[in-house]
Amino acid sequence: MQIDVSPQILRPTDFAVEAAHFILVHARAAIAERGLFRLALSGGNTPRAVHAQLARLGADLPWNHVQITFGDERCVPPDHADSNFRMARESLLDAIDIPAGNVFRIRGEIDPAAAAQEYEQKLAAVAARFGEPRYIHDLLLLGLGEDGHTASLFPGSPALDETVRNVIPATGPKPPPQRITMTFPLLNAARHVCFLVSGGGKDALIAEIVAGGSSHPAARVHAAAVTWITG
Ligand code: 6PG
Repeated sequence: MQIDVSPQILRPTDFAVEAAHFILVHARAAIAERGLFRLALSGGNTPRAVHAQLARLGADLPWNHVQITFGDERCVPPDHADSNFRMARESLLDAIDIPAGNVFRIRGEIDPAAAAQEYEQKLAAVAARFGEPRYIHDLLLLGLGEDGHTASLFPGSPALDETVRNVIPATGPKPPPQRITMTFPLLNAARHVCFLVSGGGKDALIAEIVAGGSSHPAARVHAAAVTWITG
């Protein structure tokens, strides 16, 4: 698959398979170039199908050269039905041979401010190793809500205006309300952001965001390269 400049919108016939291929192309390129693929997973339900294909098609990927982070997490324990980590564990992590230390879980079960601070420090330690001002993802996956939110950056939230911290507590209308989220400075530091949006019904919203000039939170994502994969 050709890795083109952004913003590009891909409308593959098989959404999950093509999204998985897209991720694997970036993974192999990053590992070849830097020896490590730093991938942020998105939350919600859409990623489940993509994760299943990623585990199937990426069985031979050197997962010990992959570092996984989470764009956001709900403030619930990791075994809770609403946990993004649990969704990722069930649909991907349990099916691939990745060292536990390569998976950076946001501890949704502790005080949100403490969890955000802990995650901030975890990412900063890796960024320091790479001489980066802040952690740089090779590929950062994001979802899109009906209200234009992404990660846990919801319309009208003060979290939208964070310009210094990379990870902060946030609240939103989508239950569960208490969350921890990556902020725009961290999202926009990524080499490539890929929005995964399935199930139709959001095409008009995507068009508004890609056209520019909208106030939707997802419209504030301006990474070096942005791809939309819809299906
Ligand atoms: C979350 C998400 C959120 C999600 C969108 C889309 O924790 O809820 O990170 O941003 O990606 O709301 O959710 P669906 O994939 O379930 O439509």
